[in-house]
Amino acid sequence: MRRLLALTAAAFISLPLTPAAAQDGTPGAPGAGDPYFPGQGNGGYDTGHYDLALDYEPTSGRLTGVTRISARATQALSSFNLDLVSTLSVRSVTVNGRAAAFAQSGSELVVTPARSLPSGRDFSVVVRYDGRPVHVVDPDGSVDGWIKTSDGVYNANEPQGAMTWYPGNHHMTDKATYRFTVTVPSTRVAVANGDLLAKVSKGGRTTYVWDSREPMASYLATVSIGKFELADSQLGGYRVITAVDPKLAGDATGFPERHAPVLDYFSSIFGPYPYSSTGGIVDHAPEVGYALETQTRPIYPRVPSESLLAHELAHQWFGNSVTPTLWRDIWLNEGFATYSQWLWLDKIGTRTLQDSFDAAYAPAAEDEFWQTPPADPGGPENLFHDPVYDRGAMTLHVLRREVGDAAFFAILRAWASDYKYGNADTAALIALSERVSGKQLDALFEAWLFKPGKPTL
Ligand code: ARG
Ligand code: ZN
Repeated sequence: MRRLLALTAAAFISLPLTPAAAQDGTPGAPGAGDPYFPGQGNGGYDTGHYDLALDYEPTSGRLTGVTRISARATQALSSFNLDLVSTLSVRSVTVNGRAAAFAQSGSELVVTPARSLPSGRDFSVVVRYDGRPVHVVDPDGSVDGWIKTSDGVYNANEPQGAMTWYPGNHHMTDKATYRFTVTVPSTRVAVANGDLLAKVSKGGRTTYVWDSREPMASYLATVSIGKFELADSQLGGYRVITAVDPKLAGDATGFPERHAPVLDYFSSIFGPYPYSSTGGIVDHAPEVGYALETQTRPIYPRVPSESLLAHELAHQWFGNSVTPTLWRDIWLNEGFATYSQWLWLDKIGTRTLQDSFDAAYAPAAEDEFWQTPPADPGGPENLFHDPVYDRGAMTLHVLRREVGDAAFFAILRAWASDYKYGNADTAALIALSERVSGKQLDALFEAWLFKPGKPTL
């Protein structure tokens, strides 16, 4: 702290405070440097908070949005970028309350403030925009982003959908807190992350205010809209907020009550649940097909099985609180969530952990399955392929066998607490595992995470 102050003072004194200084600075980078999605995220600043005001009309598909961002410059900036698809039209941008110049191209919104921003300076950006959001199609062919359903929106944004509905610094290394103020026709419900603060109806429209107090990567944000039955209750010590499509209400009986037992079990092995509320969004979206661990409140395209519920809740620790630094390290999310799912099925007596491992290990050595090493899946088209999930989970099981239960669970707890609300990569996990266990584990991780081919047991 003291050293930081001294440095700041020195930097301050050496800066010439003349109008010419206002022209100093260079453009922030248009990407965060992730090889799988080079345009994702931006350089030169760090966001702290997003305040999103959204007004949506499901019949016309029209969205009107105001995004307010609080950020800090990490270099002297003559201009900086936000990520937003050009199918949405930006109407105005201000920086620190003054009109700023802007240009949209591809999924980049380039903002040139009236005065450049000195390094270290806090600043605020307000973007007004509107249009009809459409989802994107990912390299693996799945739909991602603002996905329209018959009655609203299934909003899942991993890995790149956030740019389809609000401007931001859309790489997972820049986490921020969020406030969502969403207005929809009163026949619909708008569900987002975190705690429901208010619900106000007026003139046939209802505004929902949601607050996400813990930092969040933008791929985990959601504003899902539809005909939902909303329930908000205190269950087993958790605030559980669920939204269920009435078409699925019959199958979803008891859905809120299913959360506390899973969260209690995971808390007992990973450490405290990291968020102020939980729950889930159960939409009828057979055309989407996949669920997502949207922060605090996963979204499901159907009523989840016990295994899927456990998977998405485990992600709240692994993926959401501890987030990778590059998409290539996605096995840190999916391998951990899959292993947690195996643990839960074992715990409730559905399937033993060994049976889950054996089934995953079963493919023959020649099988395509073994050709993708989970820690280096080769490209964005393989992000969510089976090896990332199953071989990732097997890696953890093999690690557990090697270091023993005590060290293994100490590693999981340390991973969750050392990197809480932050980012970490595979190298950090290997270092932590070696530190906690006191063992040399290079060969194990090399065989299981980095080399193609079926490792021997
Ligand atoms: N993280 C999600 C899960 O396994 C999967 C997301 C898949 N996304 C996609 N665009 N294919 O829980
Ligand atoms: Zn997952």
